[in-house]
Amino acid sequence: MRKTIIAANWKMNKTIQESISFVKTLKKLIKSDVEIVICPMFTALEAVSKELKGTKIKLGAQNCYFEEKGAFTGEVSPVILKDIGCEYVILGHSERRKYFKETDDLINKKIKKALSCGLKSIVCVGELLEERENGMTNKVIEKQIKECLNGLTDKDMAGVVIAYEPVWAIGTGKNATPIQAEESHLFMRELIAKMFNKDIAKKLRIQYGGSVTTENIKDLLLQEDVDGALVGGASLDSDNFSKIVNGYGSN
Ligand code: PGA
Repeated sequence: MRKTIIAANWKMNKTIQESISFVKTLKKLIKSDVEIVICPMFTALEAVSKELKGTKIKLGAQNCYFEEKGAFTGEVSPVILKDIGCEYVILGHSERRKYFKETDDLINKKIKKALSCGLKSIVCVGELLEERENGMTNKVIEKQIKECLNGLTDKDMAGVVIAYEPVWAIGTGKNATPIQAEESHLFMRELIAKMFNKDIAKKLRIQYGGSVTTENIKDLLLQEDVDGALVGGASLDSDNFSKIVNGYGSN
């Protein structure tokens, strides 16, 4: 049985005060036992970490570097993220791939370092619209998964969550249909079984991300291989996000 995991990716939004007030409200509204991860901006991590103490809500960062410390101006160390209370880090988000030219090779280095520092990784993959229209979806996600997870051990995989985020669905209001999501999730699970083994594939949680809302979450999560969601825009409002989370018990 895979425990449903719903993560809020706030991207470059919210002041420290706004972040704190979101968490204060969310704590009152949550009625579900799903695993919840809040991923604020770096600047709000410490404040949110304090606010989450004593709750089951987890803290995640939106990125990290692949070195622990040193002369890397402007980068953030996974060791420091762990120290501040993060349990997760989102890596390979399509916005990082697009605007900051992150490659699968770089993402692979980050994943390995994050895992070695005790941070679980939410690894994002997904195809562009053009790639889907050209029938390339499976090929694209296969390449991303193989390269991002290259060299990971069976043990490492216990700290990995995959987020399937078709790029055309992110922030567009045009989510993948539950059937499209299920097809890709199943494809990835079978791929993981080949790359690692069946048991790891069975245990691996695969989130769907891309225009998730209070309206579409239920049908998406009803799919056999959809084990949670990575929510952007709809996670910015505590009322909205709590409705997304409360719609669900464990898978
Ligand atoms: P969205 O973003 O929910 O706003 O589409 C999802 C994401 O980028 O993780």
